[in-house]
Amino acid sequence: MSVEAVKLTETTGSEVRGEVSSLLKPENAAAIRQLLTERGVLVFRQLNILDEDQVRLAGMIGTLRDEGEGHVFKVTIDPGENAKADYLRGSFLWHMDGTHDTVPAFASLLSGRQLSAQGGDTLFANSYAAYGALPRAMQERIADLRVVHSFATSMENAGIARTPANEAYWNSIPEQTHALVWTHESGRKSLVIGCHAKSVVGLDKAESDALIAELLAWVTQDRFVYRHKWTVGDMLIWDNTGVLHRAEPYAADSGRMMHRTTLLGEEAFS
Ligand SMILES: [Fe+2]
Repeated sequence: MSVEAVKLTETTGSEVRGEVSSLLKPENAAAIRQLLTERGVLVFRQLNILDEDQVRLAGMIGTLRDEGEGHVFKVTIDPGENAKADYLRGSFLWHMDGTHDTVPAFASLLSGRQLSAQGGDTLFANSYAAYGALPRAMQERIADLRVVHSFATSMENAGIARTPANEAYWNSIPEQTHALVWTHESGRKSLVIGCHAKSVVGLDKAESDALIAELLAWVTQDRFVYRHKWTVGDMLIWDNTGVLHRAEPYAADSGRMMHRTTLLGEEAFS
């Protein structure tokens, strides 16, 4: 059996139709994974999947990361629910997960359990497509550049207070330097950039800041972006190695609650 899907935009995202029971058939795992890496984001509207089935589906398309309870991490910025809620405010800015590691998460599954009355859309920008559409001169200019990624930079960009306690935590996460253009084992190329990009190695600060801003603006143009407006029960999967993501800001006390299951990375940044 094949998976029935329709494109949501020209470059980014496909909606997958079907019941949970059909998605969980082992013979569909390869097709779902293939579609995910081609389209960057898969949308399953009002799937109303149970946590245990979300974990089963995740385990069919990759290797589960040990997080949350039974591989389900509750994404909320309510400090009563999440001790690291402050950190999740960084998710309001365009980012990739795992740039502070050498091998970033492959993909995440996210189910909407409770929504905020205002804000809370999730946006995805396809950095494979954005790289491919860059002018040749820019592709050549950035071909060998490397970028330092810093947790502190992302927190500062998110406007989190630089208290001694916050700073100690931020600085406990070492900076990482990755190729700006990630040539994947598949041969495809994507851009490694986001609110965590601190500086381009070898450029002076003004040139570095300008290039990071220019490329981030390029990747996040409407033509590479899919915006998801949630209905309770929707589930998304995104390929973290080829798309940036962010959430539209929402109030900490809005009750918004997402259940996330993450798949371990399979390939190091280049
Ligand atoms: Fe994220």
